[in-house]
Amino acid sequence: MEDLLIHLSGTGPIQQQVYEGIYAALQDGRLEPGQRLPASRTWALQLGVSRNTIRDATAALIAEGWIEARVGSGLYVRAIPVQNRSPVSASSASLRMSEWSERLPLETFVLPSKDVDVDFRPGVVSSDAEQVFRRKRLARWPTDTLPGPLAEYGQPEGDARLRARLAAYLRQSRSVRCTDADIVITTGTHQSLDLLSRLLLGPRTSFAMEDPGYPVAADIARLSGCRLLPLPVDEHGVKVEDIPHGIAALYCTPNHQFPLGVTLSMERRKALLARAARENFVIVEDDYDCEFYDGTMPSPCLQSVDTEQRVIYLGSLSKTFAPAFRLGFVVSPPWLLDTLRRAKWVVDRQTSAHVQNTLLQFMVSGDFASHLSSMRQEYKRRRATLLDTIRNRLSRWLTPLESNCGLQISARVNAGFDVDALCRIADEEGVGIYKGAVFSSAGRASDMLVFGFGGTPVQQITKGLCLLESAWQSEDHSLRTGPV
Ligand SMILES: Cc1ncc(COP(=O)(O)O)c(C=O)c1O
Repeated sequence: MEDLLIHLSGTGPIQQQVYEGIYAALQDGRLEPGQRLPASRTWALQLGVSRNTIRDATAALIAEGWIEARVGSGLYVRAIPVQNRSPVSASSASLRMSEWSERLPLETFVLPSKDVDVDFRPGVVSSDAEQVFRRKRLARWPTDTLPGPLAEYGQPEGDARLRARLAAYLRQSRSVRCTDADIVITTGTHQSLDLLSRLLLGPRTSFAMEDPGYPVAADIARLSGCRLLPLPVDEHGVKVEDIPHGIAALYCTPNHQFPLGVTLSMERRKALLARAARENFVIVEDDYDCEFYDGTMPSPCLQSVDTEQRVIYLGSLSKTFAPAFRLGFVVSPPWLLDTLRRAKWVVDRQTSAHVQNTLLQFMVSGDFASHLSSMRQEYKRRRATLLDTIRNRLSRWLTPLESNCGLQISARVNAGFDVDALCRIADEEGVGIYKGAVFSSAGRASDMLVFGFGGTPVQQITKGLCLLESAWQSEDHSLRTGPV
C-alpha cells in the first residue's frame, strides 16, 4: 500500500495519536485483513512524524494482534476489531458487545491442516491414548473405589483424592513443591491461563512472554486489554536481560521452550527469579510436556527453586494423556490460592466430576504410570529417529537445536536456503512441516522449522524425512536464497 491517511487528533503524545489513527482505520473498515501497511519511511514523511513514532505505534498494534510483521516484507493487517462488521439487521445495529469481545482474535490460532501423507504437526499425541481409554474402559468406575458424586456439585478446586495423586506425581517427576492443598484443577492450560489473566492482568498492566511462543497465551492475555511484550528466545531460552521494567507477569516454558524446544539455562533461571523478586512480578511456568525425555531427566521445574512465591506452575494432561480429555491444573502460591479458587467457582463451578473420576481411576489403578512409561519409550524412539535422520540426511539444509524432552524439536534452516521454498517442496511431496515464524507475533524465528512427532510413528518419520531428502536434493538450486 502506498498511502494511508490517518487522523491525528492533535491531543496527547504523538505516538498515541498515530496508534489511535491506525486503530480507527482498522475499526472503520478502511483496512482489511491481509492488507499491507505503507513502508514506515514514506509513511512517516507523509504524516510528518518520525519513523520511531511509526515504529512504536505499530509495535503496540503488533503486540495487540491487529497487525503483524512479515520478515523482509513489511507490516500487514492481521485482524480487525469486531465492531466494524456489518450488523445482522437494522434493529440490532444499536446492540453493543463488550470491549472484551472486541479483543477476541477474528481467527483463533490453529495451524493450517495439511493434506499430506506424513505430518509433523506439533500439538498432537499418539493415538495410543485413545486405545488405552477403550481397552481399560476408563470411564467405567470400578466397584472397589467410590466415584466423586455426580448428583451434586463438588469443590471448585477439584476432587481432593485426585489433587493428592497429582501432587505426589508432580513432587516425584517434576520436583514441584506442593501438596494437594496447593492445586486447583482446571479444564486445561487454556482455562488456567484464562483464570490467571483475569486475576493478574488488565488494561494498565504489561505482560511479557516468549516470542516465538505459545500463541494461546498471547491471545488470552490480549483479552484482558494488557500490553503484550514479546521477548526474544535463543539457544539458552528466554532472554532475561530483555525483560522490560514494570511488567505484572511473564509467561515462559523453561524446561522445553515452545516451540523451539530449548531449555532455560541455570544462569538465566537464577536471573529470572531474582528479577521477579526484585521487581515484583509473577512468573507463569507452563511445564507442558517434560515427562517425555531421552537420557537424563529434564531439569527440575522453575517453581522448585523459587523461594519467593513468584512462580505459578501450570500442568496439563493434554500430552501425558490426550488433548481432548480437557484436564489441567494450577499449582498456586499461597497468596493466590483462595482468589483462584473463587474465580474458578464463579466462572465454571468445577471441572467435570466425570473427567476427574476417570483420571483418578487411571492413576489409582497404576494404568497412568504404565501408559506414561510405554509412551516415554515410544516417544524416545521417535525423537531419536527424527534427530538422527535430520543429522544424517538433511544436514545440508537443517541444523536441529539441542533438546532432550517433549514432543517436538526445532531445526534452524542453514544460511543460504529459503524456508518458504523448503516448505513448498515438502508440501508438494506430501510431507507437512511447519514454520517457526507462525509462532511469533514479532516476525522472529523466520529461519526455524518445527517438527512435531507426537502423532508421527517411527516409520512415518523415516519415510517423511527420506522424501524430503530426495526432493530437496533434486530441487537444491531452487532452494537457495541468493546466487548459487
Ligand atoms: C505450550 C503449551 N502449553 C500447554 C498446552 C496444553 O494446553 P491445554 O491443557 O489447554 O490443552 C499445549 C498444548 O499443545 C502447549 O503447546
